[in-house]
Amino acid sequence: MKRAPRTPADERRDELLAAARVARRRALAPYSHFKVGAALRTRSGAIVTGCNVENASYGLTLCAERVAVFKAVSEGLRRFEAIAVVAGARGPAAPCGPCRQILWELCGDVLVHMSDLRGRLITRAMSELLPLPFDRRSL
Ligand code: THU
Repeated sequence: MKRAPRTPADERRDELLAAARVARRRALAPYSHFKVGAALRTRSGAIVTGCNVENASYGLTLCAERVAVFKAVSEGLRRFEAIAVVAGARGPAAPCGPCRQILWELCGDVLVHMSDLRGRLITRAMSELLPLPFDRRSL
């Protein structure tokens, strides 16, 4: 069967995954040894990366996704298109529950590209990962 031609959306997704893969190398994960990289794309095309940063007081650990989101927001970036998450798991790893809440509130219904190191990929919209959300409209 003929492979479908690569679209600009494919290119943008792969560029984001590559940035997340590079960010993963900077992960500080001496306790879990589970390294995660994330890359967030703004609607104007900028890419902001994050990695997980662990702490001896385990609960203070920051996930890669939240590092990327808070970095972006702190730089004044507020409109987002997609996030890529790369982990060394067996199969693509999805954002944890707290990250889904943060992503929904601060990034909206963005695409989430999840990949393992072998390139196995799952893409979902945030609204699929967090159906029936609690957000400002609930208050
Ligand atoms: N982790 C992330 O960075 N993102 C996720 O979505 C799931 C978990 C990190 C937190 C911790 O450093 C390690 O992975 C193991 O849970």
